[in-house]
Amino acid sequence: MRAAGKNYRTVWMDGASVFLIEQNLLPFKFQIYESKSYLETCFAIEKMLVRGAGAIGAAAGFAMAQAVLSGQNIEEAKKRIESTRPTAQNLFYAVQRVYNAKDAQKEAQSIADEDAQNCRKIGEIGSELIKDGSAIETHCNAGWLAFVDYGSALAPIYHSHKAGKKIFVYVDETRPRGQGARLTAWELKNEGVPHAIISDNAGAYLMSQGKIDLMIVGADRIAANGDTANKIGTLEKAICAKEFGIPFYVAAPTSTFDKNCKTGTDIPIEQRSQNEVLFQSGITKDNQVEEILVCSPGSTAINPAFDVTPSKYITGFITEKGIKTSPRTGAGFVQEIF
Ligand code: MRU
Repeated sequence: MRAAGKNYRTVWMDGASVFLIEQNLLPFKFQIYESKSYLETCFAIEKMLVRGAGAIGAAAGFAMAQAVLSGQNIEEAKKRIESTRPTAQNLFYAVQRVYNAKDAQKEAQSIADEDAQNCRKIGEIGSELIKDGSAIETHCNAGWLAFVDYGSALAPIYHSHKAGKKIFVYVDETRPRGQGARLTAWELKNEGVPHAIISDNAGAYLMSQGKIDLMIVGADRIAANGDTANKIGTLEKAICAKEFGIPFYVAAPTSTFDKNCKTGTDIPIEQRSQNEVLFQSGITKDNQVEEILVCSPGSTAINPAFDVTPSKYITGFITEKGIKTSPRTGAGFVQEIF
């Protein structure tokens, strides 16, 4: 997708280095981070310079390739890479694939290319659900920045917009890190898609007023029964969507499905620093990115990064293999998608 007047992927490998768009600086600064070792790539995943399920997966695959190329102890490297973030299934999927492969760099590159291709397909397939004149709500950032290219939840939106449908996107700001307000809004603006950022608490009101036709979100891990871990706040939106009769779709490549998690209770939920809730960063008048305290001094905060939406709230899944609606609960569900 286009950024700063050029076509970019979110993360790529060239020689022994991994390059990625530094997402903590967006939308204020567009900068590329070069990681010269697998440990630097681990740092980039942990500190969320690269984030979002597919992008984390691709970066983790490249980190494995860096470890192999530089002759590291691969068992140790695998453990270190797997310890960076616990919830996104794509990370574990990519690490295991590269670990099993004969040619680590080739395999890591295939994972990244497949991610981009699958997201492009999700865009084509999912756009069937978007009618001319639709208003769509989305949560967090499941756009191209969260994958290698195209995105999952935003891919059908981009496809529909390019096909000339008149659409409008309500973007949940997504506290505490603001992936909606900062990243999704930046992506949509770059692509010329009409949108508005809404506060996280505005969704139910807008739904009750008939303003939202459809909700599409991404996923970090999907259990065998369809229960879906996604950015914190997704569960509330799904419950509200059901209450107001609004279709609620999850868009994700099949690499995000985890057959080893029978239900959502098996999905590990990342707990992040309280400082992400207590402090916010923004840009000053003289163009400096600054962090300020936005809460009562001395108070503490609790910061679970994801929640799990039970499959009973999900109208359907959009994958590169098609749209699967009305999921039945039970272990057979994922098999039906494959
Ligand atoms: O913590 P993040 O930003 O890595 O969280 C992942 C996400 O961006 C969202 O949960 C997203 O909706 C699914 S990932 C495509």
